Amino acid sequence: MRIEEQQETPLFTALKKYVEDRTISFHVPGHKGGKGIPEFREFVGENILAIDVTAGLLGLDNVCNPLGVIKRAEELAADAFGADHAHFLVNGTTSGIQAMILSVAGPGDEIIIPRNAHRSVVGGLILSGARPVYIKPVIDDYMGIAMGITPESVRRALVEHPNAKAVFVINPTYYGVASNLKEIVEIAHSFDKPVIVDEAHGAHFGFHPQLPLSAMEAGADMSAASVHKLVGSMTQSSILLVKGNLVDDKKVKAAMNLTQTTSPSYPLMASLDVARKQIALKGREMLDRTIKLCEEARRELNAVDGIYVMGREVEGTEGCHAYDPTKLAINVRELGLSGFEVERILRYEYHIQVELSDLYNVLAVGAIGDSEESMSALVEAIKEIAQKYARKNVIKIAASLPENQELVVSPRFAFYSEKKVVHLEDSEGEISAEMLMAYPPGIPIICPGERITREVIEYAKALKAEGCHLQGTEDPEANFIKVLADRESVEMEYYRHAEQVG
Ligand SMILES: Cc1ncc(COP(=O)(O)O)c(C=O)c1O
Repeated sequence: MRIEEQQETPLFTALKKYVEDRTISFHVPGHKGGKGIPEFREFVGENILAIDVTAGLLGLDNVCNPLGVIKRAEELAADAFGADHAHFLVNGTTSGIQAMILSVAGPGDEIIIPRNAHRSVVGGLILSGARPVYIKPVIDDYMGIAMGITPESVRRALVEHPNAKAVFVINPTYYGVASNLKEIVEIAHSFDKPVIVDEAHGAHFGFHPQLPLSAMEAGADMSAASVHKLVGSMTQSSILLVKGNLVDDKKVKAAMNLTQTTSPSYPLMASLDVARKQIALKGREMLDRTIKLCEEARRELNAVDGIYVMGREVEGTEGCHAYDPTKLAINVRELGLSGFEVERILRYEYHIQVELSDLYNVLAVGAIGDSEESMSALVEAIKEIAQKYARKNVIKIAASLPENQELVVSPRFAFYSEKKVVHLEDSEGEISAEMLMAYPPGIPIICPGERITREVIEYAKALKAEGCHLQGTEDPEANFIKVLADRESVEMEYYRHAEQVG
C-alpha cells in the first residue's frame, strides 16, 4: 500500500458526511443526535453525539462483517501496523485477548502464559476451557515488579508441554519491559506453535526505531493492541492484528464475534481511524518528542536523592531485552514512602494523577499528548515530595511476590464448581474459585483453580497494610474469598472429567 493512502479516514469521513447530509434519524440510539439528552449534549458537545449512530446503516458498514468503510479502515490499519489483517475492537484489548485465546485453544488444551498476565487472560481461559502452563517472569527485587520472560523458559515449557497450543507473551509489561520477542517467536515457530501477544501497552512500538520491536515486527502471529492507551484513540478502542498462516483469520473473526457487541460505538471506531492515520503519518515525529521529554524527565528525577527511575540500563539484563523509554517507573522506596502514599500526595496536593502505584513505585505514563509543562509539573512535584517527606532509612516491610501456584483444576472447572466462602486468613490449602489481584496493575496473585498458600495470604495482607486495593473477589474488601466447596471430591471429579475430555 502507498503511504499516501494513509491520508484516508474512510469511516470518519463517512460519518461526517452522514452528519453534513442532515440525515433524519429513525433508528437507534434514541437520543437522535443528542436531542434526547440535552444536559449531556451541552457538556460533551454536539458532534460526538451526532456521530453516535448504530451498526448497519447504509454507507456506514457493520463491524461484525465489514464490507465497506470499516473494511477499508481495517485494511489501512493492517498496513500501518504491519499485519495481514486488522480488526477493530470496541471492548478494549480485553476482548482481543479473549478472542485470541478462544481461536487457538479449546477445553483441556494447554497454553503457555507468563504468570504476570492480565486478568483478561483468566477470562479467556474460563471462556475457552484451556489450562494455563505458567512461566515465571524474572523478578526485579529493587523495583519489586515482574519483568519479562526469557526465551529459555519458553523453550523449556514447550519441551515439557509439547501439546501446548500457543505461547502467550506480554509486549511490554505495564512498566515498559519487553522480553526478547523475536527469539521467543523463533523458538515457538520451530515447534510449529503460534505466538499471541498482549500489546495493551505496546501499540506505539512499530512507529519509532528507539522503541522495542512490535509483535508484528518480531514475527508474532497475533496481537491485541490498546490503541486507546498510547496511540491516541478513545478509551476502549483497540485493535486485533493477525499475520502469517499459523492462525486462521476467519476463526479469529468468529471468536471475536462471540463476545463483541453488535452495537459498536462509532465515535470509538472513528477515533481508531483517525489515530491510525496520525500515527502512520506523524508517529515518528510525535514519538520522538515524547521520548525526548521522558528521557529528560528521567535524567532530572534520577538526580533527586532517594529517587530511581528505571531506564535503558536494564536492557540486556535477564528479565529485559528492550525497554520502553516513555514509561517513567519512579521508585520511591528510599524516601521511606510507599508508592501508594506518593500517588495520593501527587493527586491531592499537586493535582497530578499517575497511572498506578505499587509498594515501591509510582508509574507515570508518557505519551503523545504530553508537553514540557506537564513533564515539568511532575518532576517539580517529585522533587518537592522528596525534600518534604524524606524519611531516609525507613525499612519497608513487604512480602515478596509469591511463586507460581499449583494449578489443581482448570480455571473453567473452578468457575463452574460448587463453592463456599471462607475468610482469606483461613483459606490456606483451599482451591480458589476466584481471582485475587491488586488493581492496577491487574496482575492476579491467585487464579481460579489454584491452591491458596500461606505465602499468598501473607502477600495479600502486606499489600492491604500498604493501602492497596485488592480486587477480583466477590467481597469488595477481599477479606473473604470463594473456594471450591468440597475439595477432595472436586479433585476426583476433575480428574474423571479430564480423562473424558482427554
Ligand atoms: C497488561 C494488560 N493487558 C491487557 C489489558 C486490557 O486492556 P484493555 O483495558 O484495553 O481492555 C490491560 C489493561 O490495563 C493491561 O494492563
